[in-house]
Amino acid sequence: MDKRPIGVFDSGLGGLSAVKAILKYLPNEDIIYFGDTGRVPYGTRSEKTIELYAREDIAFLEKFDCKLIMAACGTVSSVAKNAISKVKEPFVEVVTPASKAAVKATRNKRIGIMGTSATINSGSYIKAIEKLDPDIEVSGVSCPMLVSLVENNWIDDDDKIAVEIVKRYVAPLIKNDVDTIILGCTHFPHLAPVISKVVGDGVRLIDTGYEAVMEAKAILADQDMLNASDRQGTAGYYISDKTQNFSHIAKTLLGMDISDQANFVDLNSFELD
Ligand code: DGL
Repeated sequence: MDKRPIGVFDSGLGGLSAVKAILKYLPNEDIIYFGDTGRVPYGTRSEKTIELYAREDIAFLEKFDCKLIMAACGTVSSVAKNAISKVKEPFVEVVTPASKAAVKATRNKRIGIMGTSATINSGSYIKAIEKLDPDIEVSGVSCPMLVSLVENNWIDDDDKIAVEIVKRYVAPLIKNDVDTIILGCTHFPHLAPVISKVVGDGVRLIDTGYEAVMEAKAILADQDMLNASDRQGTAGYYISDKTQNFSHIAKTLLGMDISDQANFVDLNSFELD
């Protein structure tokens, strides 16, 4: 057994979808979450910048002696190949687990991907799905505005603007008759009720945060690294900009108040080794 924390990072608050799954399915684990709220979004940036940000995020979490690091970010998972290849700890990204789940879920072999521009341009999900089943037809749409909707808490399924934006983004996927959609950015599971309302119950939505946590659970169990103590795990939240509405939004996304556990990290004073 290993009592060290699981480190989770994202460009902002989207990765809380993975934290939510850890709290539910790995309740004894300690968590260190880093949300780069000062530099979100990542998904519209160049590969070079995303690589640099990912290196810094990982280096920050490594200071906590994490037993596993999770990139709860579709953009980093898709683009920051160099930064990822250098991680020493067991590492989980979101593309592979979500692709596996989608391949299992589809009945008509038509899968849709919703992601950031960087994720869709990288073709990461298409490549991962092709490897698993080359007969599956995959179509992807970049949905950059959905990141802002989540970061601003416009996530209710009766929010007319959120519904209209989602309608416009998913139209090509509906046209392609997909029966499964990967919410390829960890921000998007927070919009699942809106997306579901638009695409209908018949379309299965794959939550990247949840699938990554299931993968982490399997790795930790396999290596006998789960925290087997019977106390409730603790969580520390670190953000690179204490945006005014952080606590309120985090409360909506996680269903609990974490304002006491939120810490500000000044990335300017943080140096890479
Ligand atoms: N939540 C992230 C992702 O999964 C990043 C969104 C962004 O920063 O653009 O892609």
